[in-house]
Amino acid sequence: MSFSMLGLLLATFQPTSLQDSCLSSRFYGIYNHGDATTRSLFAGDLECLTSFDFSRGDVAFAAYTPNSDDVLAWVYQAPVSEDLLSSYPPFPQALDAFVDQIYPKGSYNDPSQHPIGSSWDGAIMYRSNSSALLHVKSEIARDIDTLIPPMWKAALLPPSPITSYPVPSDDVKRIKDVTSSLKFSPDIAATVNSISIPQMRNDIRFLTGEDDKSGIISRHSFAEGSRVAAAWLRDRFEETGARCTLKSFSQGFAPNVICRYDADVKTNATAILGAHYDSRGSFGNTRAPGGDDDGSGTISLLSIARTIASKNVKFHTNVELVAFAGEEQGLVGSRAYARELRAAGANVTMMIQADMLAYRAPNEPLQLGLPESIGTPAVVQLVSNVSALYSPELTVGFTKACCSDHQSFHEQGFASTQVFERAGWIADPMYHNSGDLSDREGYDFEQVKAIAKVQFATLLHVAGFALGV
Ligand SMILES: *[C@@H]1O[C@H](CO)[C@@H](O)[C@H](O)[C@H]1NC(C)=O
Ligand SMILES: *[C@@H]1O[C@H](CO)[C@@H](O)[C@H](O)[C@H]1NC(C)=O
Ligand SMILES: *[C@@H]1O[C@H](CO)[C@@H](O)[C@H](O)[C@H]1NC(C)=O
Ligand SMILES: *[C@@H]1O[C@H](CO)[C@@H](O)[C@H](O)[C@H]1NC(C)=O
Ligand SMILES: [Zn+2]
Repeated sequence: MSFSMLGLLLATFQPTSLQDSCLSSRFYGIYNHGDATTRSLFAGDLECLTSFDFSRGDVAFAAYTPNSDDVLAWVYQAPVSEDLLSSYPPFPQALDAFVDQIYPKGSYNDPSQHPIGSSWDGAIMYRSNSSALLHVKSEIARDIDTLIPPMWKAALLPPSPITSYPVPSDDVKRIKDVTSSLKFSPDIAATVNSISIPQMRNDIRFLTGEDDKSGIISRHSFAEGSRVAAAWLRDRFEETGARCTLKSFSQGFAPNVICRYDADVKTNATAILGAHYDSRGSFGNTRAPGGDDDGSGTISLLSIARTIASKNVKFHTNVELVAFAGEEQGLVGSRAYARELRAAGANVTMMIQADMLAYRAPNEPLQLGLPESIGTPAVVQLVSNVSALYSPELTVGFTKACCSDHQSFHEQGFASTQVFERAGWIADPMYHNSGDLSDREGYDFEQVKAIAKVQFATLLHVAGFALGV
């Protein structure tokens, strides 16, 4: 296998449109093209890939011979505003410089000299103006997010293909039924309004290390601080009555923190709220406080857990609050968990990921951004309607930020979406920066609370609940 030639196919269509084709078992995920569109990536034997009807859509194809010690990595320009991009070289130049840095000059070839069907082991498998697929030596792959420029993201391809599932129409219908019968509930309003900003302020300071008691310098997936954060999160969630597991998913990575509240009735239905607690810092700097990305989503989960305890909420379906690791290396933790849930036949009714809730640009209103591309439109509609009821202070719009951990659930056919801090592009000047602290201009706890209220109210409406005394 390792020396035979393989094919790669990048296509604009969704993998679920291919249920009957040989491609469906050669799917490796959905990738951001860097221009607010996405591509589906298929890899495997040439016979299958070249049997594809190329007139069916916008596709790119490459053939290659895998190197056994190489990993394939997708890199792309994150969906950030022009303003933030202006101080960096354009992607095409930066890509050449990056490849020169990871592969000494002359040790790879230009792919254009290797048409389909010829053997090639170069570094760049595919490139566009804002994304690329690279061969990366495995020792570099682990740290790729610390080597790429700050306005890029990287995702390692999973080690084996993903079987992709569409979201079943019954699941979509159940969400739509919640939306159409949606009515303001004073109980829900009183519950979600009691989320505490002072508590969130304490929680984020522990996670960022601004509180020097935590000793956390970085929550990068491989850093010691991420393990400190995982144990601390487990303890905090367990104090609220959840049962938590620190679940390892890949060697070297900090674990996912999976916390569960059992339903008060017999059911296998489970609703999930997620965030990622791992973080990224500036190039060459060990500090990675991740105050906004994604400490803000993590403290929103924790604020919901604390309120579940203080209001003695019992849910009528199972509920999981999950803090993922490995997001910055390409959704590694959430992909492992979503695949496991699919393999176990789990009944996941809804998944909402909170990634970056805190940054508010000068003169902008409090906002909630919902993803344009990845996820289930019915869940987007539900969240948007819930927002109007319980957080009317938020202006709701669509965002280009797209590919956080809900994508892993989307790929596995679970109804899902993301909540984000603004409409349009990412505008936080401390994005992927060692200065991503909570004590700074633009870090807005009112906005974090307003969005946490929306996540929590959506959960209460979807799961059903009883309040204790
Ligand atoms: C890349 O950008 C150049 C210059 O703006 C443009 O001419 C070219 O068509 C773009 N290529 C792609 C693949 O978008
Ligand atoms: C979940 O419960 C429903 C209704 O009780 C049942 O029909 C279904 O088979 C169960 N699913 C699983 C995966 O156990
Ligand atoms: C999932 O749970 C819902 C809500 O209880 C139930 O209606 C549905 O039948 C379950 N689906 C499966 C596949 O178990
Ligand atoms: C949900 O929001 C849409 C507008 O986005 C509106 O037309 C609809 O009436 C709302 N539904 C409910 C139940 O509030
Ligand atoms: Zn993030």
